[in-house]
Amino acid sequence: MASDRLQVLDHDPLVGTSLAALRDERTTPADFRRHAQRVGALLAAHATADIPTRAGLIRTPLADAPTVTRAVPVVAVPVLRAGLGLLPGVHEALPDAQVGMIGLERDAETLEARRYYFKVPPLEGAWVLVLEPMLATGGSASDAVRALDLSGAARIVVLSVVATEQGVRRVLDDDPRTHIVTAAVDPALDERGYIVPGLGDFGDRLFGTPH
Ligand code: URA
Repeated sequence: MASDRLQVLDHDPLVGTSLAALRDERTTPADFRRHAQRVGALLAAHATADIPTRAGLIRTPLADAPTVTRAVPVVAVPVLRAGLGLLPGVHEALPDAQVGMIGLERDAETLEARRYYFKVPPLEGAWVLVLEPMLATGGSASDAVRALDLSGAARIVVLSVVATEQGVRRVLDDDPRTHIVTAAVDPALDERGYIVPGLGDFGDRLFGTPH
């Protein structure tokens, strides 16, 4: 499943520590949100590691120092509602990122995504980060990417916490420009569409709602 459009951060101990907490069934919603934020920041940092930069100079109290700063805008697009869990971390890493939102609901029978909300700023010249923590079948991430007008976007990256091979393949196959950065790729999907071992329902654990 190797692809130059897929980064799996399974050797990063900072990601691994927060992922362990997110997976742990005993983790409270407050701690779940804290670790989701941390993973969001780390995913955003990895996803933009090769973003175009601008070289400059800044005056320190002693002398001029060279600077390297981001040269292109970033738009973060959380897929409601689970994607909201990654947004504070993305903003920690990229405070000036604009935000769009896409609301998708999974049909319990077909497991396909239905779009109920869409508000996204212009994407001209931007790196677009689609925040979809659980890439199960890949249906919602793929639908979100399809819904965006990416004609002028410079790069599209799906940020995921736990993915499956099936989900990764679908997203990469459905759009040849899309990249994925994920903390883990798990082995299975159960009959209800949950990733196994996964971490359960990301939205419910994030917001403390009963499943
Ligand atoms: N969405 C979730 O929240 N969890 C899964 O395991 C799959 C989809």
